[in-house]
Amino acid sequence: MTEASVSFAGNLTDDPELRHTDSGIARAMFRVAVLGRREQEPSFFTVIVWRDQAEHAAESLSRAAGSWSSWAGRRQPRPGRRGARTARAAPRRDQAPATMITDSDQLTSGPWIGRAKVGGGMEKVDYDARLHAVYAAGRPLSPDARQPWMAAFARHLPATRPLVWLDLGSGTGHMTPSLATAFGGPAHGVEPSAKMRAQALAHAGHPAVRYAAGSAEHIPLPDASCDAALLFFVWHHVIDREGAARELRRVVKPGGKLFVQANFSDRMPDSWWFRVVPEGKTVDTAQFRSEAEVKRDFVGAGWTLVSHDEVTWLRAANLAEDFERLKLRAVSTFEHLSEEVVAAGFARIAAALPALGDGPHYESSQLLVFQR
Ligand SMILES: C[S@@+](CC[C@H](N)C(=O)[O-])C[C@H]1O[C@@H](n2cnc3c(N)ncnc32)[C@H](O)[C@@H]1O
Repeated sequence: MTEASVSFAGNLTDDPELRHTDSGIARAMFRVAVLGRREQEPSFFTVIVWRDQAEHAAESLSRAAGSWSSWAGRRQPRPGRRGARTARAAPRRDQAPATMITDSDQLTSGPWIGRAKVGGGMEKVDYDARLHAVYAAGRPLSPDARQPWMAAFARHLPATRPLVWLDLGSGTGHMTPSLATAFGGPAHGVEPSAKMRAQALAHAGHPAVRYAAGSAEHIPLPDASCDAALLFFVWHHVIDREGAARELRRVVKPGGKLFVQANFSDRMPDSWWFRVVPEGKTVDTAQFRSEAEVKRDFVGAGWTLVSHDEVTWLRAANLAEDFERLKLRAVSTFEHLSEEVVAAGFARIAAALPALGDGPHYESSQLLVFQR
């Protein structure tokens, strides 16, 4: 029987029920709803957790119905399908501490990987809490990394200069000064997090750049004032997507362009560390919308999709350098993982690093181009 790793994230449908077998072995059972794509019904996973993990599950997930958690395990064909009644069988001595049973499969679990989120869904990431302090150091973009992005934008814009840019969700000002330099300015960096903005003001100044408080839902710029707008690693954080897509249409000139860099849940980048820490990919995937959904977000608001490009950019000079940055946890993925999972993941990376190869490391990202 071949076992394959599986991981999933979903919402608790009820509080765990803790019981003990006749021989005194603790067992917690609960159900998790895993949301499908927009039109699909959720699938339900029954999770059974054994022994000390059972006590832990019962304690940390009590009164957490509706909250979000993520899980990892190994997939096995469901013995029940072959006639055995194993779903409710008492654990054998050699059985792993947790067992997850789906409608079609039995999953034998290793560690618990997620942190429950009260209220359901992914919690909004607060860049004022911790990320602002590590973002610039943990996710630097070298001039070599920015160059392919500027070239990708230029391919869709007129050759006339200057072009007015909006960098929406400009963060610490990763891209804003480069936009002003490449397209003659001015570039408006609009950012809701006061502490991210403070970093931009302190470290990413440029004579043709203005940083302002605002958000995708409320952009502090006049109607039809920008030739181009950029959303760079931002869209998954926006809650009122309909209002935001409309607000962007208000500030971009007719004929102007909107560039959306986003990860898609059905087309996640093949990041090297996801291969070593699949839990990271699970929660990251849960943060993002599908390609079709993101396209619909904008087309539904009156934007015309004119291109879907892929941009390959230099992420780090080598993996060891990338790992040092990763350890700063400057990626919002880490906001959704438990300390235990992160520590174990980093230990696995450290052990795997020598075998992962050396040399420059590139990443390919999706870029949607819309016209107003
Ligand atoms: C991953 S960072 C990207 C920052 C910058 N674009 C970059 O690439 O370095 C996401 C940024 O989106 C901002 N953000 C979150 N919600 C937003 C919203 N509703 N409107 C605009 N920006 C938002 C965050 O504060 C954060 O600075």
